[in-house]
Amino acid sequence: MNPYEDSKLLDEYLLFHYGKDEDIMPWDFGPKVGLHFPKRTVHELVDTSNLPSEARALDLGCAVGASSFELANIYQYVLGIDFSDSFIKAASQLHKKGSLAYRFLVEGNSYSEALAEVEDPSGRIEFKTGDACNLPDNLGSFDLIHAANLICRLQSPNRLLDRLPSLVNKGGQLVLATPFTWLEEFTPVENWIGSGNSKERLQEKLNPNFVLEESKDLPFVIREHRRKFQFSVSLGTRWRRV
Ligand SMILES: C[S@@+](CC[C@H](N)C(=O)[O-])C[C@H]1O[C@@H](n2cnc3c(N)ncnc32)[C@H](O)[C@@H]1O
Repeated sequence: MNPYEDSKLLDEYLLFHYGKDEDIMPWDFGPKVGLHFPKRTVHELVDTSNLPSEARALDLGCAVGASSFELANIYQYVLGIDFSDSFIKAASQLHKKGSLAYRFLVEGNSYSEALAEVEDPSGRIEFKTGDACNLPDNLGSFDLIHAANLICRLQSPNRLLDRLPSLVNKGGQLVLATPFTWLEEFTPVENWIGSGNSKERLQEKLNPNFVLEESKDLPFVIREHRRKFQFSVSLGTRWRRV
């Protein structure tokens, strides 16, 4: 079963993308630096200068959509694609209605009720289920591809990386964020992009079609319950299609 179809994960991701700061991280001594990750991958990595008119963005592995909504403030059209049907349904409902009720775990069987809200859901956004390793031929091309915490969740990251040059317009941007959490349950070892040297292997793979413009560490925190969190550091990069 696709682990991202689990309703526990749907609630965790709705909280991660739309939760209040104090619900995600209720401890004053906790790593608040890891909040707002889906917005930060956009604000800290996308170069908003010199965009073409009618600029198009593709958000791969968009999950429940917070980065896609953020991109829609910059791009005239945004397509969010994710493998998980339940994530895409949640993102689509947020686009249509502007809000979605969910709950998050306190501990045991105790939950808090919450409402995910999107400030301005009116942008030209489409959410579709799809496989980043097997994207349709008629997808067109984009001025930006954003893929946050995706590549180490793919069966074959190289299938996506090999497709990227034809998906990004010349002069366009590729924004990747990844903590390189390689796990055999997602990616067979022979398909890992490096092991200890993943950043260098990624660069070798993307050259010569993409030139690295920006690289920064982006912490993120995901709440499991009020006393358990995942704290990770994604490597955020921006590449220019040459
Ligand atoms: C670690 S989550 C990151 C989600 C989101 N980008 C973020 O930063 O919060 C990985 C996402 O990739 C999706 N995913 C996994 N395999 C995929 C595939 N082959 N094609 C498209 N999406 C996939 C999962 O459903 C999940 O939403």
